Amino acid sequence: MLQLRDSNGPAAVIRRADYSAPAFWIDSVHLTFDLDPAKTRVLNKMTLRRNPDVSVQPLRLDGEALNLARVLVNGQGASFKLDGGKLVLENLPLEGTFELEIFTTCEPLKNTSLSGLYVSNDSFFTQCEAEGFRRITYFLDRPDVMANYTVTLRADQQKYPVLLSNGNLMDSGALGGVGNEGRHFATWVDPHKKPCYLFALVAGQLVCREQRITSRAGKEHLLQVYVRPGDMDKTEHAMHSLMASVVWDEARFGLALDLERFMIVATSDFNMGAMENKGLNIFNTKYVLANQATATDADFSNIESVVGHEYFHNWTGNRITCRDWCQLSLKEGLTVFRDQEFSMDLCADASARAVKRIEDVRVLRTAQFPEDAGPMAHPVRPDSYIEINNFYTVTIYEKGAEVVRMMQTLATEGASDPSGRAGFAKGITLYFARHDGHAVTCDDFAQSIADANPDSALARLLPQFKRWYSQAGTPRLRARGSYDAAAQTYTLNLRQSCAATPGQEAKEPFVIPVSLGLVGSSGADLPLQLQDGSTSSHGSHLLVMTQADESITFVNVAEEPVPSILRGFSAPVLLDFDYSDAQLLTLLAFDPDPFNRWEAGQRLALRSAIQLIASDALLTGATPLNDAYIEAMRSVLRHPALDAAFKELVLTLPSETYIAEQLEVVDPQRIHAVREAMRAQLASALAADWQWAFEAHAPNGAYRPDTVSSGRRALTGLALTQLCLAARDSGDPSTGSGQAGLWPGKAYQRFKDADNMTDRFNALNALVNSGHALATPALAQFHTLFKNEELVLDKWFALQAGSCDRGGQVLPAVRQLLKHPDFNLRNPNRARSVIFSYCSANPGAFHRADAAGYVFWSERVLELDRINPQVAARLARALDRWKKLAEPYRSSARQAIERVADKPELSNDVREVVSRALAD
Ligand code: BES
Ligand code: ZN
Repeated sequence: MLQLRDSNGPAAVIRRADYSAPAFWIDSVHLTFDLDPAKTRVLNKMTLRRNPDVSVQPLRLDGEALNLARVLVNGQGASFKLDGGKLVLENLPLEGTFELEIFTTCEPLKNTSLSGLYVSNDSFFTQCEAEGFRRITYFLDRPDVMANYTVTLRADQQKYPVLLSNGNLMDSGALGGVGNEGRHFATWVDPHKKPCYLFALVAGQLVCREQRITSRAGKEHLLQVYVRPGDMDKTEHAMHSLMASVVWDEARFGLALDLERFMIVATSDFNMGAMENKGLNIFNTKYVLANQATATDADFSNIESVVGHEYFHNWTGNRITCRDWCQLSLKEGLTVFRDQEFSMDLCADASARAVKRIEDVRVLRTAQFPEDAGPMAHPVRPDSYIEINNFYTVTIYEKGAEVVRMMQTLATEGASDPSGRAGFAKGITLYFARHDGHAVTCDDFAQSIADANPDSALARLLPQFKRWYSQAGTPRLRARGSYDAAAQTYTLNLRQSCAATPGQEAKEPFVIPVSLGLVGSSGADLPLQLQDGSTSSHGSHLLVMTQADESITFVNVAEEPVPSILRGFSAPVLLDFDYSDAQLLTLLAFDPDPFNRWEAGQRLALRSAIQLIASDALLTGATPLNDAYIEAMRSVLRHPALDAAFKELVLTLPSETYIAEQLEVVDPQRIHAVREAMRAQLASALAADWQWAFEAHAPNGAYRPDTVSSGRRALTGLALTQLCLAARDSGDPSTGSGQAGLWPGKAYQRFKDADNMTDRFNALNALVNSGHALATPALAQFHTLFKNEELVLDKWFALQAGSCDRGGQVLPAVRQLLKHPDFNLRNPNRARSVIFSYCSANPGAFHRADAAGYVFWSERVLELDRINPQVAARLARALDRWKKLAEPYRSSARQAIERVADKPELSNDVREVVSRALAD
């Protein structure tokens, strides 16, 4: 048997412009697996033919980490070459189809990259997207080659009683014959053609929850959720989410389940969240398993969206897939949009929908905006990449979803469809009519949505609109307003610009849908009347900006209004408007648009933070927030009509990462200290109100993870944190610490008594992050209670690694955690819970003047890279924004990145990230 090295050639740049169709098509694939953890044997029998549209050339099959044993063409031994990891066959038949048979082995147990075929908890799993299939067999590993699959799995019956692959089970039973004692087999046939990145197999000791459902069209389907034997009591929510997803896609887009059987399987070792393999989704346990004792409300809500997301890929991704990986947002941006809409449509009311929108925008602005301003900035449809795994980014996902959302907004053809929802759904229908079963591009998608709505702004502006796909960077929108009291007109001047990004110096203007309202002194929307006489009935007007500079004038405006701009965050831009504090307070108190109401509060807090950061004032005992802000927060907290979930969002200060993004030069320690001062001030100034909020939202009835009761828990969680902070800060007993001092004890009691993980974890968090002595016994008890629950232990690790630094104690604690018997660097969830929680989610502890945080980071990047390059490359991105740092952070961060970059043996994944970080 020929032993081959991995292909470690120099990293090549893949360019979208170089795309060419494959020289061969693969019609069908028959795979036979003899599963063995040490050495699995894979027989791959394919039927191929030449692509008549491409010149005659050799067949070049991708392969990686494979041992090649045999190659037959039409049953005969054939000559082949191995060239940089590729299997090259020449002199293949010119006409018609031919059979190619390839026999290889691989080593699942040694596969720590979790790409290809690997072992987790004694079961077999695969992960093929983006380029893992080539680690299973030689193949044309590209998404535009779609084939029919028949898969036979053979394995020990006792160790691997469950054998799964895509599609329908055709046959199964015991294997006979010498050498096959105790072994069994299963044969699966996928009725749909698919690209190889959607292939999956699972084998192991698993149990499943089953549910039969009937579609609107009357078809019967079997839904299954497979987990390890002990985890059945955590599968109900995932199954409910799956059923809701099936119903929603049929109701909103007319997209019905196209399979008799749809399976979800959970594994604890998974690089990502979940994977949409056709009919056999494989999930990180974190996004499947939940019950009230072990999962928080956030976990329940994430499970709902991830289950939805992967299910929705069945149409957007699987039925229509990507022509090449530069088109990744075709499926990911669209499917994130769909899962966001799904979660919103499951909300009980408009307020809950707004809360979901705010949460999504918060992710976009704290993660994607920095990416778009940093060294890894790339367009939603990149022009090139080195390692495709590095391009599963917040830009492809979240900005991609915003681009789809704007298309929906712009697909409206008038008053009968003000939101564009109906027009967009028509566009989706046309997209499937045109492209079902094919591998297509972002252009094809946009064209379908536009063509289905010929009278829409989208159709009119399509070429310009598509700059959202080609230009990187976050546009900045500068708005100025002027009121003419005599003429009773209000004019808004808008100017857009976009900073340069790597490789893109100058940018052309974007199409920016700007949803606008004018709020009057009574707090209500003023009627909107344009100069041309048109009115808007909704209180909001959609301005579709296309030029660098534009203005809009409203007439018959009876009083000077406060403009509410970019309602619902109608475009992914940075908005500058020189609001006075009074104007922001008006919006915070009254804006009928809940997004901008929340945003007004964030702007006020940000303003105070930035002022104090820029000053040279000492921070001990600082009170950065003014009385008006404090009073406004009190009114929101006590407001009789606002939901608890919304209150919690308003009363949460902008994150340190978000504050940092607003500054030219970033001193992470000063930002941390200022934000802490603000939190402390809110805690003490509103102590009585927090206490009221805690008591008024006490648990009412049995635990349910719905938006209303989870909102109550979120608000009581924040209240408890604030009350514990206030207790810490009220030193003098005569000033009421007698009262305040009770709160850590109450938090400890809540921690012990809680009947659900959300309340329990919030109480633990309050103790840990106020630095109270009770944190120590609580953490110990938490570990004892949940030592057999790996997902809960992840929370235990993450809480400590992410906790508030007081005098540099977090890093030594993190180093201790790495030595904990429950720590395991090979398990991505555990690695993330300690290392990412510290390096990426705890800026105040990570950015140390002594550079020790960065040293820790570089050690972990190198250590992880030898185990799992994908996970290592994500960690490598923690220092993306090093150039913005103030000294001494900047120099020591650069040195840490250089130390990594100097290593000759880096993976392509980490190499690409650190070289881009160091490029000028
Ligand atoms: N297709 C991806 C999973 C994936 C990403 C596989 C990268 C291989 C490489 C899947 O549909 C996905 O997007 N998962 C997300 C969760 C989702 C809810 C945004 C993930 O895994 O983070
Ligand atoms: Zn996805």
